[in-house]
Amino acid sequence: MISVIMGLQFGDEGKGKITDFISKNYDDVVRFNGGSNAGHTVVINGNKFKFHLIPSGALQSDTVILGNGMVIEPEELISEIKLLTNANKKIIIKISSGAHIVTKMHKLLDKKEESIRSKLNIGTTSQGIGPTYEDKYARTGIRMIDLSNKNILKNKIETIYNMKMELLKDSVYSDEQERNRMIDELYNMGQSILKYMDYTEITVNEAYNNGRNILFEGAQGGMLDIDFGIYPFVTSSNTISGALSTGSGFSYRKVDKVIGVFKAYTSKVGAGPFPSEIINDSTLRDLGSEYGTTTGRPRRVGWLDLPLLKYTAMINDVDSLAITKVDILGKLDTIRVATKYILDGKEINYFPKRLEDFDKLKLEYKEFKGWGNIENDADIINNGYSALPEKMKWYIEFIENETHKNIDIISLGEDRKMTIVKQIFN
Ligand code: IMP
Repeated sequence: MISVIMGLQFGDEGKGKITDFISKNYDDVVRFNGGSNAGHTVVINGNKFKFHLIPSGALQSDTVILGNGMVIEPEELISEIKLLTNANKKIIIKISSGAHIVTKMHKLLDKKEESIRSKLNIGTTSQGIGPTYEDKYARTGIRMIDLSNKNILKNKIETIYNMKMELLKDSVYSDEQERNRMIDELYNMGQSILKYMDYTEITVNEAYNNGRNILFEGAQGGMLDIDFGIYPFVTSSNTISGALSTGSGFSYRKVDKVIGVFKAYTSKVGAGPFPSEIINDSTLRDLGSEYGTTTGRPRRVGWLDLPLLKYTAMINDVDSLAITKVDILGKLDTIRVATKYILDGKEINYFPKRLEDFDKLKLEYKEFKGWGNIENDADIINNGYSALPEKMKWYIEFIENETHKNIDIISLGEDRKMTIVKQIFN
């Protein structure tokens, strides 16, 4: 079985938990986009694991692959490898020789670029993601394989510095000594991670030929996609399912199942239009502890947005849906779901490309009653879907009817145990 799991909103849909839950069914887990801008927390028997680079599925798989589509910060990688190998002793780690390297200079550039964006400030995670992808596409980027050669590192750092001099000239990196120190640091870190380096596009295709089950794990969410998200308030990579091909070298034609994860409501960090946002009421944020895993920033929260969900389900060609944090949403007395987008008096089924149109966009909502606190945990663990509160089932079935997709996985709490797979219990 070859599957890909994706987020269908603005990231932070709770993919980490769902991935961890299903990853026991896969031998290999592959990540193919983004870098330390992502953050997933997985809770197993009360122990919390926080990862930014390593995909969550790695806690249960035999092999984890970080693909060429990723941008990797070596220091973070080294600390996560330690965490992972402590938790999953037998794991085999492979990192693409073509994955790009994020340096401290890229992180500084991220902040500098944000400071001159003014009105179109994105609210990035400051992890150097944008500048590293800029260098990738400018064909001056540093790749994993370059960590083995100090002369190449020197050449590339100097090239990047010269190209970005306008932004860097007043920073610590204007000092050549400082740049040399960074080169030494990168080279030294390379010495401890180069053993994981691999031609992963070959490895993943061989794994397929050998009949292994592979899970491709997307980072971020469909609405942060550089092409299909609300540009420019997006990340610098493609975050949709099709990106697995360019980000790992494996053909999308061989994928059996696309699993789309969404939260029972919507959340977003960073700037930009958020049509179903709840303004001036932090109840849902507090109930759901909606603070960014990577930055700690309070997340903006809003109602479930069905036009958005239908759009990303289409772009990702989703086969099966997974819903998270249903327990949190149910605590509200009244719940709303955005059902339609109206622009200039007409219903639309797309995201306006003109930002000003978001000011005119009107949403229609449907209301539901909350289902209260979930107190029959054991009953739900034993009996699954049938033990869910009726009001919650109405909510879930309404979404299924609207999206024409089955919600096969329902997450009702942080722990792995609080996850039910609906089809098994029907
Ligand atoms: P960047 O990826 O750091 O450049 O940030 C671009 C936008 O994407 C910002 O709004 C970030 O908050 C958002 N973003 C990037 N990665 C994630 C993620 O994994 N979850 C949620 N938001 C993210």
